[in-house]
Amino acid sequence: MTRRFPDGFLWGAGTASYQVEGAASEDGRSESVWDRFCRIPGRVLNGDTGDVACDHYHRWRDDIRIMQDLGLSAYRFSVAWPRVVPQGRGPVNEAGLDFYDRLVDGLLEAGIEPFVTLFHWDLPQCLEDEGGWRVRGTAHAFAEYAAAVESRLGDRVRHWLTLNEPWVVAHLGHRTGQHAPGLVNSGTELDVVHHQLLGHGMAAQALRAGHAGSEIGIALNLEPKVARSDHPLDLDAAALEEGLMNRWFLDPLAGLGYPDDLLAASGWPASVVAGGDLDVIAEPLDAMGLNYYRTEVVGHPGLRDCDRPSPLRDPPPEITEMGWPVTPSGLGAMLRMLDGYEFEAIYITENGAAFPDTHRDGGMIQDEDRRSYLERHLAEAARAIGDGVPLRGYFAWTLMDNFEWALGYSRRFGLVHVDHATQQRTPKASASWYRDVIARNGL
Ligand code: FCB
Repeated sequence: MTRRFPDGFLWGAGTASYQVEGAASEDGRSESVWDRFCRIPGRVLNGDTGDVACDHYHRWRDDIRIMQDLGLSAYRFSVAWPRVVPQGRGPVNEAGLDFYDRLVDGLLEAGIEPFVTLFHWDLPQCLEDEGGWRVRGTAHAFAEYAAAVESRLGDRVRHWLTLNEPWVVAHLGHRTGQHAPGLVNSGTELDVVHHQLLGHGMAAQALRAGHAGSEIGIALNLEPKVARSDHPLDLDAAALEEGLMNRWFLDPLAGLGYPDDLLAASGWPASVVAGGDLDVIAEPLDAMGLNYYRTEVVGHPGLRDCDRPSPLRDPPPEITEMGWPVTPSGLGAMLRMLDGYEFEAIYITENGAAFPDTHRDGGMIQDEDRRSYLERHLAEAARAIGDGVPLRGYFAWTLMDNFEWALGYSRRFGLVHVDHATQQRTPKASASWYRDVIARNGL
């Protein structure tokens, strides 16, 4: 049976500037925190960098052709702040904007709707040197940069996403140190969240002050957390982690402020929150972007399994090459949770999986594991739409294999295989399958 999606449903794929562009020092682009982080020995697997990445900066025309072959109706990409405002704030580098100008025109000519993310982690290093997202000034600089991009592209771009996954920047960048800027237990994680959300609100205002009628959103990584057992400590640990990942972001964006229970549990002094900040953060959103990959089983670290009542909940055995469990039902759960906030429109702005891609047949990678992952998640999405969730589009992560942050080029999420030595692009079997789904507008 074909499960059809609503007419006008957008079928997309996503990328991010540092992961695909390359051309790291061309046309006036300055250093980003990721350029710097990649040069610290041991931080990125195999010493990989985004210097060349997929060379999308030069090959974007070919990449649009690939998108056309797939039948995509939307493409999500991010703008590199260090290309557009190399000093972080102040003078705008028109040569940097030229690239996005041409890309947007090329997409529109191909009938592909651009979804533009303004910040997908490549903060200008000069702003990091002034304290990065730990300081308030970065939020102001972000709004200035957003206005500069809007004034150049806003006559054609109808869909904006301010930030990508502010939780990751705060948590992996300032607590675990796995991501740029690589700070460990800096005690600034929630300050970093606050300044990003403030920057989001200011940028949303700047975008709204530009061309009328565009849709403004944000992309959050949201996850259900399942308690390892019904032991009260496990239940509390799971609820706290889920709260800090989901409600901590959604509540203030929806105008509800930071949740009282989490404020108390986190012990965050909130000394960086100034009067009026929460109103700025609550600037109305036209769309919510959901990045969904997995559901996590959480146990209290102080409990041993022998102290827990059975049954114990284990992560499902099926995992991706990231070690992430395959849990499609969590996507449905997150869509329904978002629906409770009554956002006007929801997009799945990322969803996908890394697998080793070792099985080839006639030159084509037979990535049945990826196809099955995508299909099961899309089936959840279809069910949620059937229940009335206003889901308007789906973006597979990712169009093509690219620089997977601290794991370098070792993890492949693409629908299209990229030979990183030659830059040759070859669609995988999952890409042909996705093309058929798009053509049928259904599963
Ligand atoms: C998300 C990121 C994206 C990509 C996927 C696998 O957290 O937004 O850039 O790396 O994970």
